[in-house]
This record gives sequence, structure tokens and C-alpha cells, in this order.
Amino acid sequence: MILLRARGVCQEYVRAGVCTSVLLGVNLEVRAGEHIAIMGASGSGKSTLLFALGGLEPVTAGEVAVGEELIPYAQMRDIAQFRNRTLGFVFQFSYLIPELSAVENVMIPALIAGVKKKDAQRHATDLLACVGLSERLHHRPATLSGGEQQRVAIARALSMHPRILLADEMTGNLDAKNRMIVLDLVLQLCRQMGSALVLVTHDREVAARLHTTYLLCDGILKKD
Ligand SMILES: Nc1ncnc2c1ncn2[C@@H]1O[C@H](COP(=O)(O)OP(=O)(O)OP(=O)(O)O)[C@@H](O)[C@H]1O
Ligand SMILES: [Mg+2]
Repeated sequence: MILLRARGVCQEYVRAGVCTSVLLGVNLEVRAGEHIAIMGASGSGKSTLLFALGGLEPVTAGEVAVGEELIPYAQMRDIAQFRNRTLGFVFQFSYLIPELSAVENVMIPALIAGVKKKDAQRHATDLLACVGLSERLHHRPATLSGGEQQRVAIARALSMHPRILLADEMTGNLDAKNRMIVLDLVLQLCRQMGSALVLVTHDREVAARLHTTYLLCDGILKKD
């Protein structure tokens, strides 16, 4: 079953009268439970593509459709709710809310979805245990290491059991050993939840652990 489909996705940015074409017609299909790596040079448009796939930025042309019924984003009225229930994001920078503790950060998607505070807290506590942070529940992001912050972000991204996890360089700022530990953890959680994974990475060793690798080059995505 195809869970995410991008067709002819183009993205250009116009800044100060200068037009930069980043994506020039990207096609991609992600199947349920499939783990995909996206590689490409710095500036090739990997983050731009992930934002487009997640409906976080409108695209210049083309279509992205997500979910069991492949809903085209352009026709969605309440995209935020849909996104919260269907997609999980781990960004290149963890974007945790600095004023909130680890457990509070992980609770956010569930609270937005209307889950009771007590239930959200229990679930967030379990997820933080899964990523090895039981001893850090009440730490604010500034008092966590970079790798710990990424693990909180991963727990938050998975908290709604997303059909698809979109992850941008989630292990980029970790050392080689922790990179593989965090990757294994994410792969294990994705398998448990049956979530598909689209992972942007610069690391061939990381990409080799996933099912399929694509290369983004000159605005086009090709199977590696
Ligand atoms: N909002 C924006 N406005 C103008 N240009 C942008 C914008 N966002 C990205 N770009 C440009 O689009 C290109 C692709 O950026 P993007 O962040 O997608 O690259 P990337 O492949 O993720 O790079 P990296 O590996 O360094 O993270 C870059 O040249 C960047 O300067
Ligand atoms: Mg990027």
C-alpha cells in the first residue's frame, strides 16, 4: 500500500528578485512500513523536499498526497490536525520548546489531539523510557546533551504513532557510536509501530541500513 506519493513536485524560492529553483519535478512513492534514505549534497534541497512531503510549505507545482487514502494536501481544510495524526517530524535542529521539560515536550502532539493530560503524560513517560531517558523526564532542553535532545524529539515525533516519520539529519550531530544507537532505536520503533520512514542523511552507513536509497541531484530524485 502506498502511503505517500509526490508527483512532479517543484519548489522555487524568490528572494530579492532572484529565483532559485530547488526541486524540478520530484517523484516519490513510499509504501507502508518502507524505510527510505534520501541523500544529496548540501544545498541540493533535501530539507526543502522533506518540508514539501510533510505539507509544511506549499509547493510551486506538483502534488503531494499522504495517508491511507492518499489525500492531496491542496484539498485539505484542516491540514494541521491531519498532519498531527498522520506524520511525525524530526527536524535537522531539534526544535524542542525551551521552556518545557522533556516529558512536556513529548506530550504536546497528544494534547493538541485532545488526549487527557494524565494519559498524555503516561504515554510520554513510556516513550522517553523507550529512548533511554527515564532519568531525564523533567530536564529542560538546555540541560540535555545534543543527542538527548534528538532522542526527545524522536519520542515526540513518534508519540501519535504516525503512519510516516519524516526525519532530517536526525543523527547528524552525534558521534559514530551514538548515531547507530539512535538509528537502531528509530528503526526498531518504526517497525513496532509499522511506520514508514523517510530519512535525510549524509551518512552512507546510515542509508545502508534502510530499504531504499534515493539521491537528490539537480532538483531530481533518483534511486541510488
Ligand atoms: N526559504 C528559503 N528562501 C530562499 N532560499 C531557500 C529557502 N530555503 C532553502 N533555500 C535554498 O534552497 C536550497 C536548498 O536548501 P535545503 O535546505 O533544502 O538544502 P539541503 O539539501 O537540506 O542542505 P543541507 O544538507 O545543508 O541541510 C539552498 O540553496 C537554500 O539556500
Ligand atoms: Mg537540510
